[in-house]
Amino acid sequence: YMNRNLIRKIKNFLKEEKFLGYTDIVNVERTISSPLEELEKTVKQCKKCGLSKYRINAVFGEGNPKAKVMFVGEGPGYDEDRQGRPFVGKAGQLLTRILQSINLQREEVYITNVVKCRPPQNRNPRPDEINSCNPFLMMQIKTISPKIICALGTFSAQTLLKTDEKITTLRGKIYELEGIKIVPTYHPAYLLRNPDKKREVWEDMKRISKMMEDQ
Ligand code: URA
Ligand code: URA
Repeated sequence: YMNRNLIRKIKNFLKEEKFLGYTDIVNVERTISSPLEELEKTVKQCKKCGLSKYRINAVFGEGNPKAKVMFVGEGPGYDEDRQGRPFVGKAGQLLTRILQSINLQREEVYITNVVKCRPPQNRNPRPDEINSCNPFLMMQIKTISPKIICALGTFSAQTLLKTDEKITTLRGKIYELEGIKIVPTYHPAYLLRNPDKKREVWEDMKRISKMMEDQ
């Protein structure tokens, strides 16, 4: 991957060329894509695991490429597969409200999933599918370089923390992974079925909010 500095230098070079009349590149900005955009193109065409056979759209993720906080869910559901965007169905609408509860807009954070393609009938993603897709998540994390990752639900928490512990055991504590704080919490779809767990998620959101102030 080209680093940002190199991309900036090339853009400036091309702008100078254009100014001097040496090239007629119309829109320099549009001709060079960022590492995250390159990765998205790769994911959209990925056939590394069987989930690619069932998808309408691979769901890469969206939000601020320089986000301080990333939210990582499990995998696309019906609506996400149709629209190609993460967390846009019922659980997604709840996630949007959870973010707003600590004054975060979807556009300022980055939202993605452990697997980028919808498992058929919304079954759980299998270990081999999670492993196939994991390099994409890791590259997103490296590129965005967030301070905090909120792991939504069992699969996200277990994948990021490389453990088999239950989400009920994992949540309530803050972990650290290569300098990034990991905050596991319940998945919004789980909250829709168990509204009595909202209080714990609210506690986790307040922790995230406080950690952002302390940055
Ligand atoms: N559930 C998830 O885990 N991810 C989505 O994108 C939507 C629902
Ligand atoms: N089970 C899950 O898969 N996720 C949760 O958040 C809680 C229970």
